Amino acid sequence: MAEIVFGFGTAHGPLLSTPPDKWDLRGEADRRNPAHPFRGKYYTYDELYELRKEEGLDAQNVIEVRTERHERCQAQVRTLGKKLSEVDPDVLLIVGDDQHEWFQENVQPAFAVYHGEDIKNAALDEEKAAKAPPGIGYVMRANSPPEDIHYPCEPALADKIIASAIENEFDITASKSPPVGDKGQLGMGHAFGYIYEKIVDEAKPPALVPILINTFFPPNQASSKRCFDFGRMIGRAVNEWDSDKTIAIAASGGLSHFVIDEDFDHRIIEAFKSGDIAALTGEPENLMQSGTSETKNWIVVAGILTETNLNFNLLDYVPCYRTGAGTGNAMAFATWT
Ligand SMILES: [Fe+2]
Repeated sequence: MAEIVFGFGTAHGPLLSTPPDKWDLRGEADRRNPAHPFRGKYYTYDELYELRKEEGLDAQNVIEVRTERHERCQAQVRTLGKKLSEVDPDVLLIVGDDQHEWFQENVQPAFAVYHGEDIKNAALDEEKAAKAPPGIGYVMRANSPPEDIHYPCEPALADKIIASAIENEFDITASKSPPVGDKGQLGMGHAFGYIYEKIVDEAKPPALVPILINTFFPPNQASSKRCFDFGRMIGRAVNEWDSDKTIAIAASGGLSHFVIDEDFDHRIIEAFKSGDIAALTGEPENLMQSGTSETKNWIVVAGILTETNLNFNLLDYVPCYRTGAGTGNAMAFATWT
């Protein structure tokens, strides 16, 4: 039977691929954003700054602190790459969110499984990068391969998961080929591309099973509890897969952003450590909005790995502030071994 041999979680936010002296590119955009979600309410930048000024976050938004934290993140990305390379799994199942990359407002599946034969990580589209919001073009240039790279997928396992989902009353969306844009088939979204570009060893890429979750966009975001149960279903399906292949599982994204909430992150990390499912799935849904919603990718993965004897180990938790109002991205890196 197939065996899940390794799990990991990694942030994938723009600041990971932006030099610390350029974080203000996104900070400028934050100052113009009229509606920052934070602890269930929405704030302008000035309101948020006022609300959080007691926390003294300006002191964490200086180049020395930014640089130290950026380096800590890079070290963990390298660690994950090394560990994945050592484990050398046949298959990599990544749980990520789609942020209007494949799916648009016309159709937004809550849960989707890609079961095509292969997938590409698309080369940089310079025209798109030039039109992207401040700082995002920078990240697109840093995270895109110079040329299209095609990676094999594992449709046999994807089909097994789809069949198991239907059997277990998850009415799953199945995608057999990527949507087509004006330059042909679209490449994998950022949640998958980051891992293939920065963590996977290009010389021996595992076959990919992409699981796409709508964490981000109302009105059909799956609840945390549903995400956890969906994960458990996947874990059982993988364990029952009649194959001698080894599988690694990855969670992509999170934790709190684009307004950092360290209290929220510490509660979630504690729940991963202790395996406290009620705590993990009991956070109010109004905290799981915007970028922070990507924490649900980790909750799906925690559900999958509940079906194994692998245990959660936090490698590092690094809050990366880009303004004094607490905007930025709290990066977490972890393994399940
Ligand atoms: Fe993301």
